[in-house]
Amino acid sequence: MSSIRTESRAPLIRMRGIEKHFGAVIALAGVSIDIFPGECHCLLGDNGAGKSTFIKTMSGVHKPTSGAILFEGEPMQFDDPRDAIKAGIATVYQDLAMIPLMSVSRNFFMGNEPIRKFGPLKLFDHEYANRITMQEMGAMGISLRGPNQAVGTLSGGERQTVAK
Ligand SMILES: Nc1ncnc2c1ncn2[C@@H]1O[C@H](COP(=O)(O)OP(=O)(O)O)[C@@H](O)[C@H]1O
Ligand SMILES: [Mg+2]
Repeated sequence: MSSIRTESRAPLIRMRGIEKHFGAVIALAGVSIDIFPGECHCLLGDNGAGKSTFIKTMSGVHKPTSGAILFEGEPMQFDDPRDAIKAGIATVYQDLAMIPLMSVSRNFFMGNEPIRKFGPLKLFDHEYANRITMQEMGAMGISLRGPNQAVGTLSGGERQTVAK
């Protein structure tokens, strides 16, 4: 990995001395890592080692007990995962957090629904959501039967693409 680094490149994410305590349980006891653009990392460890806690701390689910998170050199304090997503850090969870009976386009925009105003009413903008979903899924190499296809009918890999 060091071979692709050049001196001029700055880390995208720096985690410095991250500690996370849950009461008496010390889940993370000072973790530091620098992540450079274009790198792909693997986090390995025994059950209970703190992998999930570390990822959740990086993506705004947990606040570190101490330590610093820097994104593009700026210290970050995420109040919740939405803050982290705004900064460009998101987690694709194993359980995918999707609703199988809802359409691909509803799942694609879950939590970030496009709105169309109709007088005093705010409506889900189906036309926009369907168009963007088909376009973006197509760009990732998934050809859907249609935007209304239920997520439950997709394969695991295809679902993961929706979650991204
Ligand atoms: N919300 C929590 N409250 C209390 N203890 C927790 C919580 N989350 C994780 N832990 C504890 O922190 C440690 C690390 O857990 P975790 O990050 O889930 O490990 P891993 O993902 O590597 O299996 C474990 O001892 C676990 O019991
Ligand atoms: Mg885990």
